[in-house]
Amino acid sequence: MRERNHNTDQGPSEVDTTRASAARIYDYLLGGSHNFAVDREAAEAVLAVLPEACTFARQNRAFLRRVVQYGIEHGIRQFLDLGSGLPTVGNVHETAQARVPDARVVYVDNEPVAVEHSLGILGDNPYATCIHADITDTQSVLTHPETLRLLDFTQPLMVLMCAVLHFVPDDRQPDRVVREYADALAPDSYLALTHATPTDYPEQMAEVVAIYEQTQNSAHLRTRAQITGLLAPLPLFVYPGVVYTSEWQPEHPAEVGDPARSLAFGALAYLPLTRAHSGPALPEHCRQAPGMDPM
Ligand SMILES: C[S@@+](CC[C@H](N)C(=O)[O-])C[C@H]1O[C@@H](n2cnc3c(N)ncnc32)[C@H](O)[C@@H]1O
Repeated sequence: MRERNHNTDQGPSEVDTTRASAARIYDYLLGGSHNFAVDREAAEAVLAVLPEACTFARQNRAFLRRVVQYGIEHGIRQFLDLGSGLPTVGNVHETAQARVPDARVVYVDNEPVAVEHSLGILGDNPYATCIHADITDTQSVLTHPETLRLLDFTQPLMVLMCAVLHFVPDDRQPDRVVREYADALAPDSYLALTHATPTDYPEQMAEVVAIYEQTQNSAHLRTRAQITGLLAPLPLFVYPGVVYTSEWQPEHPAEVGDPARSLAFGALAYLPLTRAHSGPALPEHCRQAPGMDPM
């Protein structure tokens, strides 16, 4: 195991412990211990403005687990998890390999603590790994030797982009990023996306964005219409389309609560067998993308 103890404030030498990182703030919000004093201070500042940040993190993780389970139930055997974060409860390989022990998982993150801990957790798991890369550099991810060793792009695959694209500014072209991953997928593949929105808490979210401005990851929130637009390269959504993360196929109605408190929209988009395919011959679990909501 390559895992190191990050319960202290001494990280690996290449880690910037003077500025908070999105990965470590998120770890703190989820009750993890792989974070430093700067991360805890930033997370507490966020929580003081918007206590719903914890709901966001929990609902986002629950969404991720549900889409992975959905993928496994619908024949997906390989996953590319972009902006995978620090290992926490319900990691993709745990959820997938609990049902399919040889399900393949490639995690990608640009945060050294996240990559190091992911590799430590994975140990000698032969079917899962983590690579250190910037997800906006799509070619370096898609052609990375570890990606090519574990994933077969001629077969259906699920790409996960959960709570990561809101760290990609417009000038890094998040729509291009989604398109380039979508273009690499075989028919019958899926792309799961969650993305924070300012819609319901505009003033608090503006303060949260200002806090993230001081960290390593500036935040770029988007409306439901903009988030839906990012998924344009994939023509279909699995029911119920682009919704608050807690509303996406909840296991129990009580989990939904006030959906707006999840602070993010999520969707599972689908690439059909033939892109021109339409009408009743489509898989029954999919439906056409809902119209854009002008929120
Ligand atoms: C909020 S965490 C989400 C973790 C996980 N995807 C989830 O939904 O539970 C966002 C992660 O994206 C990573 N990230 C942000 N921008 C990135 C980029 N350009 N390339 C790779 N990783 C990035 C951060 O380091 C962080 O670990």
